[in-house]
Amino acid sequence: MSYVDADLDDQFDEDNIALKSLTSADVQPVRALHSALLPVRYPTSFFIHLLVHSSSICLVARASTSNAPIAFISAAIQHNASPSAGLAPNAAHDESTGVHVQILTLGVLPKYRNRGLAQRLVRTAVSRLIDSSVPAGITQVPAPPPARTGAPSTTRGKPDGALVSAHVSTSNARAIEFYKRIGLAPSLEIRDLYRGVSSGSRDAHLVVGYISLSDKIEP
Ligand SMILES: CC(C)(COP(=O)(O)OP(=O)(O)OC[C@H]1O[C@@H](n2cnc3c(N)ncnc32)[C@H](O)[C@@H]1OP(=O)(O)O)[C@@H](O)C(=O)NCCC(=O)NCCS
Repeated sequence: MSYVDADLDDQFDEDNIALKSLTSADVQPVRALHSALLPVRYPTSFFIHLLVHSSSICLVARASTSNAPIAFISAAIQHNASPSAGLAPNAAHDESTGVHVQILTLGVLPKYRNRGLAQRLVRTAVSRLIDSSVPAGITQVPAPPPARTGAPSTTRGKPDGALVSAHVSTSNARAIEFYKRIGLAPSLEIRDLYRGVSSGSRDAHLVVGYISLSDKIEP
């Protein structure tokens, strides 16, 4: 089992929504929610991978009124960032640039949208993956000065944010707007990434940006 065993944001917020790490008991309901919200089908092995690999995470949101999941995010630390992947040359995962997190899946049931839940999921996942990537005992590096787009601190220690990327269908205007607002800009277009989808475009944007955990993004 991965480091995500520990409860994280398991207190209900003002909307009575709590985030917990995926457990084996969640796999089928969370997989069903993926199928309901995303055009791509994810096999059970995808979720097993999230459970067992310490460089990935899946967070599940639940409302206090029901045990059914209402939202999810899955994300992983990337170790192979390169200019050919559409990332800036300084984006690789190394000591000078910090952590690169790739968002794999993200979805919120329509009833719970437009209240900041996706942003909370992204920030919590990034924070947890940063924690997992930094050796114990290293303390937080203070936020670098303004204008840090893609330019994390070079001070040794726990970074205050991460380079974050995601793939999003070119026809998914709602998600593209969401990613732009949290600081991820489209960098390149990938043809035919979603070959098997029944609806929407088969092409994807790679969206990329630096998310600082010390910045509060207002709605
Ligand atoms: C994209 C998606 C995940 C966004 O989820 P969400 O929980 O509605 O996202 P947020 O609430 O954080 O932000 C959405 C909007 O609500 C607004 N908002 C956030 N908090 C708010 C608040 N407290 N009060 C009012 N508005 C608020 C934001 O301004 C934001 O607007 P913008 O994105 O147009 O700039 C959701 O629409 C979804 O699940 N879509 C289907 C699946 C999908 O496309 N996934 C992404 C591709 S993998």
